[in-house]
Amino acid sequence: MDNRSYQAMRTESVPLNGKRTTGRRHAAYESFTGSTRRLLINAGVFFWAFLAIASLAACDTDNEEALDTSAPAPLSIPELLEPTFDAAGVAHYDLKIGESRHDYRQTALTDTYSYNGMSVLGPTLRLRTGDSVVISVTNELDEVTTTHWHGADVPAEDDGGPHSIIEPGTTWMADFEVIQPAATLWYHPHVHGSTAEQVYRGAAGLIIIEDDNPAAATLPATYGVDDIPVIIQDREFTGDGQLDFAIDDGGDGKLYTTLTVNGTINPFVDVPKGLVRLRLLNGSQARIYHLSVEGADMTKIASDGGYLASPVALEQLVLAPGDRAEIIVNVGMESAALVDSRLGRVLEMRPNGAASGTGPLPDKLATIERISVSEITVDRSFDMDDERNFWNFGPRWAINGAQFDMRRIDFEVQLGDTERWTLSGDDGQHVFHPHQIQFQILSINGEPPPPEESGWEDTVLVNEERDVVIVARFNTYAAEDTPYMFHCHILDHEDLGMMGQFLVIDE
Ligand code: C2O
Ligand code: CU
Ligand code: CU
Repeated sequence: MDNRSYQAMRTESVPLNGKRTTGRRHAAYESFTGSTRRLLINAGVFFWAFLAIASLAACDTDNEEALDTSAPAPLSIPELLEPTFDAAGVAHYDLKIGESRHDYRQTALTDTYSYNGMSVLGPTLRLRTGDSVVISVTNELDEVTTTHWHGADVPAEDDGGPHSIIEPGTTWMADFEVIQPAATLWYHPHVHGSTAEQVYRGAAGLIIIEDDNPAAATLPATYGVDDIPVIIQDREFTGDGQLDFAIDDGGDGKLYTTLTVNGTINPFVDVPKGLVRLRLLNGSQARIYHLSVEGADMTKIASDGGYLASPVALEQLVLAPGDRAEIIVNVGMESAALVDSRLGRVLEMRPNGAASGTGPLPDKLATIERISVSEITVDRSFDMDDERNFWNFGPRWAINGAQFDMRRIDFEVQLGDTERWTLSGDDGQHVFHPHQIQFQILSINGEPPPPEESGWEDTVLVNEERDVVIVARFNTYAAEDTPYMFHCHILDHEDLGMMGQFLVIDE
């Protein structure tokens, strides 16, 4: 399939009330191009090409039923977990991760992982800037896990990375202050080697941080009504209705062909007419979404780390794994739909007759002081690549040639420093994500970032055609012996070693 026929297919594939019938072929196309380059340099090129074609053919028959038989269903909205406050005013949240079952409308109920007994995913935690927070995480799984607060600026020991193992039957406590502004973050397991699978089985949830930014007063903010969580994940089901999980070690990571939003396949949501806020999270293992809105306008108001300086009208939004974006959709009298360029409709929004009563959109959302390059004291570069040699030996996914080693600290950052990091990648798509910090993008291919990428970010897409330079201040927490992770958020790559560790030290 060449690029042109692919383009033609995708423009035809997204009728507002139609079915997603072309998803399989698109996905196969993506994974095929992702591995093209390596195929060509492999010694066993014919063998591998044969395998690729064989699996392409297999893909095509696999999911026919699951894709074509699902009528639109109401979007499930994860419950909201509000804190309980103790006498000292500390906000407490309790999470329990365990096994559950979810109705994906397959041939049987599907075994899942979830938090707090939900059928899949976890509750949305609502935090407030300035609060002291204690979150307990109890592990009711039969395997070890951790829970990481993605995008949160917290001390390393409370960050929930691969070092904060929670043995089955035990409870881990994270204890921190919310020192960052309003934002949409998320939480998910982070055990080295099983992050992808635990997230895939359903362990993930949103975190909403609120603050008293006056600009937010006219924005939709009623959870589940005009402020909608949208956790986008691709999945694959076996004939007996179970989640089919795999790691793809040879390309852009594992792309599945059935879209789910909050665990619902082919969802619609009833919304008031007027401004509706969608809190988008790409919680997928590897798939990058190219999102647009049909039947209404889309305006981006927040990136990973919080509000943009001003709302930015967008035709298309690229959401890589781990990324969040908050968008405003102005729903009119007719349905509107969030659409992915490859898989078709993601979420239909049906006006329910009520008026949202919010708006107009403020001109200014936040003050984002650009970090000045004159502040920079340290430069580093991070190259994400497949390190195998001609014979397919050697480390696979690595950063600067090194694979993850829990006993190795890759570098140390001095507390108070401002650092510039140059990010590059080869062999397909990578998504750079450092813990602790929200960074600013200084440049993309040498050019200043567009307004929609000029806010605070913690996750950024990098590939052969997209070199990114970021800048960050390390001025909050330091610890002598507990590292933060930095890694590729294509979870296949991360689990296969595309991760490292840094310390922030105060000397
Ligand atoms: Cu979303 Cu290291 O994490
Ligand atoms: Cu993270
Ligand atoms: Cu990667």
